[in-house]
Amino acid sequence: MAEKTVLVTGGAGFIGSNFIHHLAETRPGWRVVNLDALTYAGNPENLRAVEDKDTYSFVHGDITKEEDVASALEACGDGPLEVVHFAAESHVDRSILSGLPFVQTNVVGTQILLDQCRARGVERFVHVSTDEVYGSLGDTGYFTETTPLAPNSPYSASKTASDLLVRAAFHTHGFPAVTTRCSNNYGPYQFPEKLIPLMIANASEDKPLPVYGDGLYVRDWLYVEDHCEAIRVVLEGGRAGEVYNIGGNNEYPNLEIIRMLLAALGKPESLITYVKDRPGHDRRYAIDASKIQRELGWQPRHTFEVALPKTIAWYQSQVEWMQRVRSGAYREYYDRQYGS
Ligand code: NAD
Ligand code: DAU
Repeated sequence: MAEKTVLVTGGAGFIGSNFIHHLAETRPGWRVVNLDALTYAGNPENLRAVEDKDTYSFVHGDITKEEDVASALEACGDGPLEVVHFAAESHVDRSILSGLPFVQTNVVGTQILLDQCRARGVERFVHVSTDEVYGSLGDTGYFTETTPLAPNSPYSASKTASDLLVRAAFHTHGFPAVTTRCSNNYGPYQFPEKLIPLMIANASEDKPLPVYGDGLYVRDWLYVEDHCEAIRVVLEGGRAGEVYNIGGNNEYPNLEIIRMLLAALGKPESLITYVKDRPGHDRRYAIDASKIQRELGWQPRHTFEVALPKTIAWYQSQVEWMQRVRSGAYREYYDRQYGS
C-alpha cells in the first residue's frame, strides 16, 4: 500500500512534470494522481519515465469542470490526500494577447478545486504561485512575503486573484492551504515560448533572438529541481495559511543570459534582434527567500554555472521533443507574437 496519495494538477507542464519526477526519486512510496487538461503547454511525453509505474496515474481533465475535478478526486481513493496545484495558464505574453483563459483557469479553476478539495477533507493543499504577484522592483530591494500585491499583467493579476481565494479558504473555512511564490524557473521540459528555451531553439537554428525593449530587464533564475524540492519541503512542513517565497538569489539581465547562451552554443551575437517591448513589462524581480530557509531549511543546490550548461545540453539532446512541441499551434502563436 502506498505511503500517501498526492493529487498534482498541471503535472504534464514544465514544473509539474519535474515535480512528479522529483517525487518518484525522493518519495518513491507516494502515490501520485496527475490531473491535467493537456493544453498546448501540457505534454504527456514529459512523463514517459513514470507513466508505467504502479504509483502513478493520469486523469485527463480540466480544473474548470466540476465533474473532471470530481473524477480526479475519486481516482485518489478514500485515504488521506494532499494536493499540489500547478495547473495554470502561465505565459505573460499570451495573457496580453487574451486575458480570459487566464481568468478561467487560474481564478475560476482554482476556486472549483478549492471547493471540492475542502468537501473531500484534503489534509494539505500547496498552491504554486509566482513572484509576479508583487509587481515590479527598481534597482534595489527584494520581495518579501509581506510586500504588497501589485500585479501588472493579466497573468499576474489572475495569479494574485487565485492567491487571495486560497487565503480566503484558509481564513474562512480553516482549509489547510499554503502558498508558494517563486521566481523564474529554468531547466528541462520548459515550453519554448519562455526566454531560455526560446533563445536556445532559435540560436540552434541561426534564427533571430527577439529581445524585448533594451534587454536590461532583470529576473531571479532558479533551477527547476530546486523549486520542486522547495515545494516538497513546504508540502511536508509548511505552516497552513502561510506564504513562502522561493528564489535563486541569482539575478541577471536578459541580455546577459542571452549572451551566455550564444557563447555556450558557439553562435554569433549578431543573432540578437531588438523588438518592440512587452506592454507593462516588469523591470526587475528579486526574491528574499529567508523565511523558507529559516523555517524549513531549504536553499537552492544548483548554481547557474552548473545548471545552465546542463539545461542547454538537455535541449540539445531533445531535438525530437523540441520539433514536436514547436509544430502546429506553436507556429501560429509565434507568428502572432513576433511576426512571421
Ligand atoms: P506550464 O504552462 O508549463 O504548465 C501548465 C500545465 O497546466 C500544463 O500541463 C497544462 O496542460 C495544465 N493546465 C492548464 N490549464 C488547465 C486546466 N484548466 N485544467 C487542468 N490543467 C490545466 O506552466 P509552468 O511553467 O510549469 O508553471 C506551473 C505553475 O507554476 C503555474 O501555476 C505558474 O503560475 C507557476 N510558476 C511558474 C514559474 C515559471 O518560471 N515557469 C515560476 C513561478 C511560478
Ligand atoms: O517570475 C516568475 C514567472 O516567470 C512565472 O510566474 C511565469 O509563469 C513565467 O513565464 C516567468 O515569467 P516572465 O515573464 O518573467 O518569463 P519569460 O520567459 O516570458 O520572460 C523572461 C524575460 O525575458 C522577461 O523580461 C521578458 C523577456 N523576453 C521574453 C521572451 C519570451 C524577451 O526579451 N524576449 C522574448 O521573446
